[in-house]
Amino acid sequence: MGENIEPVTLTKGVYWVGAIDWNLRDFHGYVTPRGTTYNAYLIVDEKIALVDTVKAEFAGEMLERISQIIDPAKIDYVIANHVEMDHSGSLPAIMKAVPDARIYGTRQCKNGLSQYYHAQGCEDWDFEVVETGTELSLGAKTLMFIETAMLHWPDSMHTYIREDKILLSNDAFGQHVATSKRFNDEVDDVIEDAAEYYANILMPFGKLILKYVETVGELGIDIDMIAPCHGLIWRRDPGQIIEAYGRWAKGENVNKVLVIYDTMWDSTYMMARSIVEGVTSAGVDVKLMAIRKNEFSKIIKEILDAPVILVGSPTLNNGMFPSVGGFLTYLKGLRPRGKKAVAFGSYGWGGGAVKAVEKELEAAGFELVEPGLQVRYRPDEDELEKCRQLGERMAAKVKEN
Ligand code: FEO
Repeated sequence: MGENIEPVTLTKGVYWVGAIDWNLRDFHGYVTPRGTTYNAYLIVDEKIALVDTVKAEFAGEMLERISQIIDPAKIDYVIANHVEMDHSGSLPAIMKAVPDARIYGTRQCKNGLSQYYHAQGCEDWDFEVVETGTELSLGAKTLMFIETAMLHWPDSMHTYIREDKILLSNDAFGQHVATSKRFNDEVDDVIEDAAEYYANILMPFGKLILKYVETVGELGIDIDMIAPCHGLIWRRDPGQIIEAYGRWAKGENVNKVLVIYDTMWDSTYMMARSIVEGVTSAGVDVKLMAIRKNEFSKIIKEILDAPVILVGSPTLNNGMFPSVGGFLTYLKGLRPRGKKAVAFGSYGWGGGAVKAVEKELEAAGFELVEPGLQVRYRPDEDELEKCRQLGERMAAKVKEN
């Protein structure tokens, strides 16, 4: 095993048996400077259930943790909340160890697993399809399943342990943080990490999240603990993360302007600085973020609650800077809603960056509240004053919000 960390008890008979990926730095394009965890949970009752597994390379680590509690051969059920391979990657190893275990998941999960793991003999796996409200008794404990299609894959599902009031929420409510701590009351600022995770993974699904919050209300389930598949378990005040998801899904903003830019010979940077001065002089918070000096995921986290953004680019070969194009492509996929934007930038002769940025911002769903501002070669004092005034007008938009 890579490290000597014992399984962790959530409550009597419920254990964390996952793995810590200290060295993960990129999660399908989402930069993870602090790594992540893959949380799997073992529930020991008259019957034994394993909820989710871990990335394939950590199968041995998970099995060793399980072995410290029970012989893995005694697992009766494997609950597959999600097909994505950071949670199903060790399923073939588990099914090799316990070929008679029955797998529970949604219909889409069954389809997805059969496509990922046909080479591992998944046609022989005993799979039971479940729906929202389906229950599985383990003896004293009962599992109830809640389908969460498109949060964030079609197969996604949550598992609720009724008697313990624990929601095993898979990707939802997670954070990409590797730590030897397991609970939110042992670490500061978990909500900030959760916000970054939400912005980069779940932002496109706001409407579905609001519906999910409604469904949980309709099911009338009490929640004492939320145990996601990444990062810390919400043991202290788990309601705070459901409340935060509701807020983020509604697109609630704070009073701030975000100025995002790249620069070639500092002209666009000078414009950005003057815009920042204008916003500040109007008494509104502002953040300046250079695209090549900040990870995309950090910029996206700031966009989550910013009502107005300005995006600046110099012109290169009649278009925007490649770094700005890459960032806007990433942003477009996350579909932020209800936000305003203005483009700005510099050029030498033909121009083109500002128009290209505007096109991408519109395609990403932003409302362009005024035509972009551009300068030739180097901004002079009049042009910098126009940038300051642009900043003041954007501050006023924030106050209207
Ligand atoms: Fe953590 Fe969608 O996988």
